[in-house]
Amino acid sequence: MTARRRTAILISGRGSNMRSLVEAARAPDFPAEVALVASNRPDAPGLTIAKQAGIATAAVDHKIYAGREEFEASLQKLLDIHRIDLICLAGFMRMLTAGFVERWGGRMINIHPALLPAYRGLNTHERALADGVKIHGCTVHFVVAGMDEGPIIAQAAVPVHDDDNAETLAARVLEEEHRLYPQALCILASGDYTVDGNRVRSKLPGMLAPSCRIGARD
Ligand code: GAR
Repeated sequence: MTARRRTAILISGRGSNMRSLVEAARAPDFPAEVALVASNRPDAPGLTIAKQAGIATAAVDHKIYAGREEFEASLQKLLDIHRIDLICLAGFMRMLTAGFVERWGGRMINIHPALLPAYRGLNTHERALADGVKIHGCTVHFVVAGMDEGPIIAQAAVPVHDDDNAETLAARVLEEEHRLYPQALCILASGDYTVDGNRVRSKLPGMLAPSCRIGARD
């Protein structure tokens, strides 16, 4: 087997998606290993979860830096020290500069709680409910300079129920996020995909390595 890609997960809070990636990457044939979990918020509960899982953690507190460039320079140093190949943004609520994004082009992915290109930005569940959509979901995509833009690697849809509120809908979407993100990281880390404009072509979930198929639907 080729070397597993050394992956950093960047978080800002709870870290439930980070946890699902860590759990998936425990399988020896998963093509990525989680080498670092870093947060821009030192008090992020996700850091404690990662520590307990025996993963290297770091806090890079954005508030102590003069600006975004200085914050990112410090983050980049950390990524270099840990010889990181890939980055997963998992509830990382900090805009990254075009320079940082370009440097990690094709090697950094994000999970967003909506079916992009619908509902970029914040409060996706509230806005979906206000619009009365019947289908909502989540997306994993390559990170590019525009917010919540970039070629889509994987999506999952959930129904919106008549009695949903933002919390119940968020919970249904989150369950799908936890299934989807490991699959998308698996696709990225295995290198088994092509990108043509905004279109990413990869194997169907059912064709992925067994460790990448947690809860996969073909
Ligand atoms: C997730 O729902 C993720 O999709 C969302 O934040 C939550 C983080 O939860 N990300 C964004 O809104 C990014 N624009 P988690 O910390 O439990 O993974």
